Amino acid sequence: MSRTIAISSGKGGVGKTTLAVNLATALASRALLVDGDLGLANVDVLLGIEPRRTLRDLVDQGLPPSEVLVESGFGFAVLPASSGVPEMARLDQQGSAALFAALDRIAAEFDVILVDTAAGIGPSVLAFNDWAALSCVVITPDPTSLTDGYALVKVLHNRLQKNRFYFVINEVADQQEGKAVFTHMRSVLANFLGCQAELLGCIPQDAAVREAIRSRQPLLAQQASSRAARAIAAIADRLRQL
Ligand SMILES: Nc1ncnc2c1ncn2[C@@H]1O[C@H](COP(=O)(O)OP(=O)(O)OP(=O)(O)O)[C@@H](O)[C@H]1O
Ligand SMILES: [Mg+2]
Repeated sequence: MSRTIAISSGKGGVGKTTLAVNLATALASRALLVDGDLGLANVDVLLGIEPRRTLRDLVDQGLPPSEVLVESGFGFAVLPASSGVPEMARLDQQGSAALFAALDRIAAEFDVILVDTAAGIGPSVLAFNDWAALSCVVITPDPTSLTDGYALVKVLHNRLQKNRFYFVINEVADQQEGKAVFTHMRSVLANFLGCQAELLGCIPQDAAVREAIRSRQPLLAQQASSRAARAIAAIADRLRQL
């Protein structure tokens, strides 16, 4: 299993945090979920936790990760971030070095580290994808999500020399739609960037997702037999095999 996975998207609101929280729930034992959305953290909201300390304390005050990590309540650990702190969204070089040194130090304690990044192509998104062994890109069938997803891959390829991207197609009407979206993306990436695309899985649009978010619990804990939960569990199985 690849140990470090950054979950990103060009367009916002496509389901990164939902995917990250539920993958962590599926992988649970010895998984760490890092909230990499440094200005608008959401992982705590989806888990119904209120962490006292955040990644900011680790970066600014040099607190050891052990004092910042919290138990999610669902079997995995969380490194929370803070919300409404614009300067944190622009992780400077020094802050970034401190953060990744700390993550490298604790990496051995976990089998997998998932990072829920911010949307877009900002510096923190690039930094987390540079650090992570595997870049997972979330898209939906929306044309704007596809063009923004392409733009993200282009930047990660040009700036970080990444050549392989793992796709999750979220909010599909059915598997056929998801596969068609992926096949199109794969051929565009191959033709224009010479990059490889792998499909991790397609997640159906499912009202259970919103219900879980409202109840501030992972979908996999709340409605494990829903269609979206089963699709995410299958993606976790694929990750275990990589
Ligand atoms: N499979 C799905 N079925 C139905 N609704 C979904 C699904 N996935 C996500 N959503 C909806 O999309 C919203 C956004 O999801 P989420 O917060 O996970 O996206 P995000 O990519 O992390 O957003 P941001 O870019 O703001 O961080 C959720 O509130 C949820 O209502
Ligand atoms: Mg999010």
